Amino acid sequence: MWCEDHTPGLNVPWCFYDGPAPTDSDPDPPVDPGCQTTIPPEQRIDCFSDGGASEPACLARGCLWCPDNTPGLNAPWCFYNETFENPFPEFDAYRVDCFPEGGGGKDDCEARGCYFHSSGISGSPWCYFPPDNRGYTIVGNASETSFGYRIDLRRSHTYTLFGGDVDDIRIDIEFQSDERLHIKIYDPNSQRFEVPLDMPQAGPKATNPLYKVAFSDDPIFTLNVTRTDTGTVIWDTSIGGLVFEDQYLQLATKLGSSSIYGFGEHEHHSFKHDLNFISHGMYSRDQPPTHTGNLYGVYPFYMSVEEDFNTHGVLLLNSNAQDVTLQPGPAITYRTIGGVLDYWLFLGPSPENVVQQMTGAVGRTFMPPYWAMGFQLSRYGYDHIDVVRTTVSRVQAYDIPLDVQYGDIDYMDRFMDFTYDTVNYAGLPEYVNQLKSEGIYYVIILDPCIANSEPPGTYPPYDEGTAMGVWVNGTDGVTPIVGKVWPPEGAVFPDYTNPVCHEWWIKQCLDFKQVISYDGLWIDMNEPANFLTGSTEGCEFNTLNNPPYKPKIFGDVLADKSLCPDFVHYAGKHYDVHSLYGWAEGFPSLEATRQATGKRSIVISRSTFPGASKTVGHWLGDNYSQWTNLHYSIIGMLEMSLFGMPYIGADICGFNGDAQYDMCLRWHQLGAFYPFARNHNGYGYREQDPAAWDSNFANNVRDILHVRYTLLPYVYTLFHQSHVNGSTVVRPVMHEFITDVNTHEIDRQFLWGPGLLISPVLEQDATSVDAYFPDARWYDYYTGLELSASNRGTTTTVNAPMEYLPLHVRGGCMLPTQQPGRNTIYTRSLPLGIIAALDDTDYAEGEIFWDDGESIDTYENGQYYHAELHASKGFVDAIITHDGYRGVDSLVWGTIRVFGVGASVSSVTVNSASHGDFSWNSGTGELTINNMNAPMNNDLKVGWV
Ligand code: NOJ
Repeated sequence: MWCEDHTPGLNVPWCFYDGPAPTDSDPDPPVDPGCQTTIPPEQRIDCFSDGGASEPACLARGCLWCPDNTPGLNAPWCFYNETFENPFPEFDAYRVDCFPEGGGGKDDCEARGCYFHSSGISGSPWCYFPPDNRGYTIVGNASETSFGYRIDLRRSHTYTLFGGDVDDIRIDIEFQSDERLHIKIYDPNSQRFEVPLDMPQAGPKATNPLYKVAFSDDPIFTLNVTRTDTGTVIWDTSIGGLVFEDQYLQLATKLGSSSIYGFGEHEHHSFKHDLNFISHGMYSRDQPPTHTGNLYGVYPFYMSVEEDFNTHGVLLLNSNAQDVTLQPGPAITYRTIGGVLDYWLFLGPSPENVVQQMTGAVGRTFMPPYWAMGFQLSRYGYDHIDVVRTTVSRVQAYDIPLDVQYGDIDYMDRFMDFTYDTVNYAGLPEYVNQLKSEGIYYVIILDPCIANSEPPGTYPPYDEGTAMGVWVNGTDGVTPIVGKVWPPEGAVFPDYTNPVCHEWWIKQCLDFKQVISYDGLWIDMNEPANFLTGSTEGCEFNTLNNPPYKPKIFGDVLADKSLCPDFVHYAGKHYDVHSLYGWAEGFPSLEATRQATGKRSIVISRSTFPGASKTVGHWLGDNYSQWTNLHYSIIGMLEMSLFGMPYIGADICGFNGDAQYDMCLRWHQLGAFYPFARNHNGYGYREQDPAAWDSNFANNVRDILHVRYTLLPYVYTLFHQSHVNGSTVVRPVMHEFITDVNTHEIDRQFLWGPGLLISPVLEQDATSVDAYFPDARWYDYYTGLELSASNRGTTTTVNAPMEYLPLHVRGGCMLPTQQPGRNTIYTRSLPLGIIAALDDTDYAEGEIFWDDGESIDTYENGQYYHAELHASKGFVDAIITHDGYRGVDSLVWGTIRVFGVGASVSSVTVNSASHGDFSWNSGTGELTINNMNAPMNNDLKVGWV
């Protein structure tokens, strides 16, 4: 070959062999065909889309290897010697991956009965399920039943993905209610694992359903659900991809809208999902939040806003390791490696209806005690009780409201549950009692791992648990398995799916209450976390521990940072119940702390699952002390609201890393509006409690917490509504303004209920917020000043200097309030108040729920007070609708603030008597009536002219 080359300093030969040079042993070596292709670089189809191409690996796949460095083109060097003409380009966005485990060339693909074509959409798989000939067909006739339909299906082909194909499957379609449709796809010939949630059973077929179900069998079975009155597609399996194998179940549905929210637990960077072939794995895991990676809880639930603003939600009730891929079609592919395909569709039609219907099925939230609405303080690494004392005292010295102090694992003796460190935490029992006398509750952490190496007779939790047989066992079903977590040596794991374990756990909690008089429990590490892979013995190699398909989750194996999937629980194999561990622990934990305290109490759990909020609240885990995490925490809260988990918050100022002054101050402003408002910090990082900085910081935090405490009656009433009808507490803005598409992507602002808009600063050095105000009257919370009409329905820049959090009250809403103070025990006896914000028709309404704040089931037992609030031009009233709590006899209404009073006010009456203590601000239009001293146990009627 002759090729001139002038590269300076390189001195390459211009005449060189075309291929390997001849040697003595091989005087005529074969000539490398080199890059012989007529396919131009821009049309090359990547033969190594799974990554890691090298020339030999490429040639071994039968592909071509031609380096190409055309700037900006990024052409693959390893590519197919064909272009695989794509006959269905319009289908690219719907493709269901037929090689979800990665890899898969043309031959492998076709061996699975799938198509192999290039795609014009990045991320769209090349090997994909044919929509029309790889699935199931109906056997006999689909029978109409009293509940809906029962359809038997038979596999229509002989291909397999991972083996273990179930040839005959059944679909039960239950028209459970007008809003709720249950579709269960299962094996009628063999009992498979089903999530043991107490879900509604099928009754007679709903008579007026919001949905229509149709199916077709031509040429394979597909199912289609539409909304009755609009015809909008809710669910449509005609894109193919129904697979039912023993360890691989897949279903794909085409959607009617690209507006998808939910799936968890993950760190998402936007509330509304990106559908560009993004996958989300789900398998509970001890994992600091990482974008889209599987975290502590599992929520296979999404909500979708249809194009005409109706809304629906879909829950896949399945606890096996799984992933979903969101596709631009729009479409979703579900893949799970066990159980059954158990879908629950909720037709809304409003977003709040969807959450109410979903929680109506899986269970609604526990009612938190009133003190759980207060500010809470924690850290991992108060190495000595004196550090706790110092911290609490300095917070008190600044008069910063504080209701709850936490004990992380530092309080324990060698990190063992149900012990305390009598050296470093000497005096803890007395200190906890002292805190109580100061109005501060104490919540202790408990981990599932129970130390197994203490001398016999010295550690009752282990001895008693062993005697009762409460541990997770190995494959023989009787030998407890051993892992390693916090205790210095080994640990066994309680099997909370076993009723006997409940007895044991409750007893341990009751016994320990005699030592430390805790008020609530914080159940951590319950994914369950293990610092080893599987156990001290590792895991056997078998199909449960090493399933043929590993969903897109962290770790090389399912046992990574947890237990072996083939371990045995009372309710099934760990393989099936893994992600239910925290959910199962919640029940005996709430029962235990309720029995121990005799009160309503709280349990905060790290791992959760749909229905967990019946017993626990949740925090968003080991977040980072970084500005980005303020934003992510809002998204996390909004998602948990969709999942029916209203008692939610993130560690204020972040867990991992050193907090910084500005960030931590802004985070307190935001965190003051987390329903679960707790500052918690990781081990070894700089102190970040609100009194750890300077007096300016402390004063600012006190001020914003006073705003929170002023609004506690409002948020408590929202929790009551959530407990009773499943509505959200932290509410996405779109839930209240669904017909305004501008609200559909809002995840930097959020509402408390319908009436309070929170627009926090989330960026360093920012002194203003670009806040969106949907079309309504909005009033500045602090001044009562109405937002200018020209800003309605626009994004408006609102000033937010360092000490200021923008808060706006929505016209039409009334918020019950109370005078703030240093803790709720103190504030609960202070005068209550009302904020009334008039709407365009000069009207507003709201409500208040009030009880003793701590007894169990006050609503269920009628031991509560409830009043409806109304306001209009010239009056405010509070009309009692239930008067079952005598504690209100000593309470009074003190202050009323009415926003939007346009005309000047000359006189006020309170319950018909003239009342002189009022002012009307001509600049803002706020009417303030003070010191009413009107008994709360009578209807309140306030008038003005
Ligand atoms: C992990 C939890 O997520 C964290 O909040 C806690 O501080 C540590 N475990 C120590 O208990």
